[in-house]
Amino acid sequence: MTVPTTFVRDQWYVVASTDEIRDSPLARTVCGEHLVLFRKTDGAIVALTDRCPHRGYPLSLGEVIGDEIQCGYHGLRFDGCGTCTWAPLQNNIPSRANIESYPLAITGPWVWVWIGDPSQPDVDKLTALPWLDSPEWAEVHGMERLAARYSLLIDNLLDLSHESFLHAGLIGTPEVAITPIETRIDEEAGVVYVERHMESVECPPFYSDATGLSTPIDRWQDIEYHPVGCYILHSRVAAAGVAPRPDGSDPDAAHLTVLYAITPVDQHNTMDFWALARDFAIGDSETDGYLARMNREVILQDVRALDLLEQRLVAESEPSEISLKIDTGALAARRMIARLGEMATDPAN
Ligand code: FES
Ligand SMILES: [Fe+2]
Repeated sequence: MTVPTTFVRDQWYVVASTDEIRDSPLARTVCGEHLVLFRKTDGAIVALTDRCPHRGYPLSLGEVIGDEIQCGYHGLRFDGCGTCTWAPLQNNIPSRANIESYPLAITGPWVWVWIGDPSQPDVDKLTALPWLDSPEWAEVHGMERLAARYSLLIDNLLDLSHESFLHAGLIGTPEVAITPIETRIDEEAGVVYVERHMESVECPPFYSDATGLSTPIDRWQDIEYHPVGCYILHSRVAAAGVAPRPDGSDPDAAHLTVLYAITPVDQHNTMDFWALARDFAIGDSETDGYLARMNREVILQDVRALDLLEQRLVAESEPSEISLKIDTGALAARRMIARLGEMATDPAN
């Protein structure tokens, strides 16, 4: 199996965070489709195709006027549904001047866009992410751009053994790479689980500074990956030997839910939306700032590595790879993505 670059449609992808969409139009590309997002006067966010049907000028270079967007070339205007409402000298506007509007959904700080058949957005395909808008959790978030295909990021996130090497000194410790993992694949639900439970191990600075814990700690990394664009890492850290209680509650541990929304831009570029939710130090802006800064630093280490891999992949005439035990989850993810791609292009579906 090679490193894939194909896109899967009929999927939700995070296109922006709500705080990025203000007064002016925001241009984004998802799976090769150019979109423009803007807010209407009631605060509702809309997404339209970022191409004026008149001469093809990007609408994102135009202006938001009330509930409409005006093309910056000859002034055609479109409402939030993509209907052309005004054109110079044109009393009757032909329906072919209308453009596509994209279904959107909002979870906490994230705006998801449905890429695929716009008449059939499937809300059941949105993964519930309660950590992003629960008062019992605090979250910080951001987005980094990768000059690398999205599948490289999925490979990276499903095999955290790289933390011991690529993120040594920040979040990686030697034990991550040598602790066995358990991989489970739920074909019916379409979820890949990879779990690693480390006992009595070194506490990396990321967690000692955020939680006040010190070596030795018990550290769990429980991943769930929902293809294509949704990845959840349940991270639990506690003083060594402190287990969850028999009733399932776990008040003596710190929990961090690390979320990634993986959004293909084009064949060689990806948006890496991330959010870090925690169940401690709620309302503490210092912890907010620390975690946001540290998580971004960790992600930029991945970005640099994956950008290099992309350059190599493009340059090599016959790229090759080998897969190991650590890649079981990533390979399962690739198979699921390939199957979703086939389903989306099969006219029988
Ligand atoms: S290209 Fe947009 S109005 Fe002419
Ligand atoms: Fe990483």
